[in-house]
Amino acid sequence: MDNRPIGIFDSGIGGTSIWKEIHALLPSEHTIYLADSKNAPYGERSPEEILALSVKNTEFLLGMGCKMIVVACNTATTNAIDHLRAHYDLPFIGIEPAIKPAALQSNTKKVGVLATKGTLSSALFHNTSRLHGNGITIMEQEGKGLVPLIEAGKENSAETRELLKKYLSPMIAARIDYLVLGCTHYPYLVPVLKELLPEGVRIIDCGEAVARQTRNILEKNNMLATTGQPGKPEFYSNTGTEVLRSLLRDVTGDIIVEHRDF
Ligand code: SIN
Repeated sequence: MDNRPIGIFDSGIGGTSIWKEIHALLPSEHTIYLADSKNAPYGERSPEEILALSVKNTEFLLGMGCKMIVVACNTATTNAIDHLRAHYDLPFIGIEPAIKPAALQSNTKKVGVLATKGTLSSALFHNTSRLHGNGITIMEQEGKGLVPLIEAGKENSAETRELLKKYLSPMIAARIDYLVLGCTHYPYLVPVLKELLPEGVRIIDCGEAVARQTRNILEKNNMLATTGQPGKPEFYSNTGTEVLRSLLRDVTGDIIVEHRDF
């Protein structure tokens, strides 16, 4: 029984794809979302920078009284979650590309992974691929340039399409039947991806699994909110809020979307 907010942070607006799943599953939870868009993309930064930014976001959310933190960013998870868990006394939920379900269900035994350089080059990603990729060809592709386009609200632009065509073509030629989205920004590309991928290729991300894991950890620690009222979602961006607002246009009820320096 704990009515304090769940903190969620991402290198920008992409982690709202995770927030939506958490909010759908746990509507009574207060949530505070930080979009560190000023420092996006994390995927192009050094491990030391990603760690320092993750610590900064964590400190800010702790200052706002959060009971748990969801690192809604693959790149921050792979580079910082061990450190955060070791240094702070609250539960952290991280994001990992959904390689396991894709590998288990693939018929062609060829799975594509689209992720940032920071994720693809991390030890956590390599361990996950090794653990679950037995007998499977995993085709890794860096999604260079995609996060800035999504941050700019250009997920459906000609430039985005051209980049995706280039990134998908080797995977399509190799006959992947699963595409794993290894960055929380990429679910906003799904409409375009569906147009570009051959019929039958399934797109998979980890949003629902992360929401279930969030609920499990809250339950296990007896930390679920008990108000029985709808939770209050708060969103803070350290740049403009226009694109963030547009991604949240379907969210019903009272929400706060504001600029904050952090
Ligand atoms: C990025 O900031 O480069 C992408 C965030 C992610 O990996 O989810």
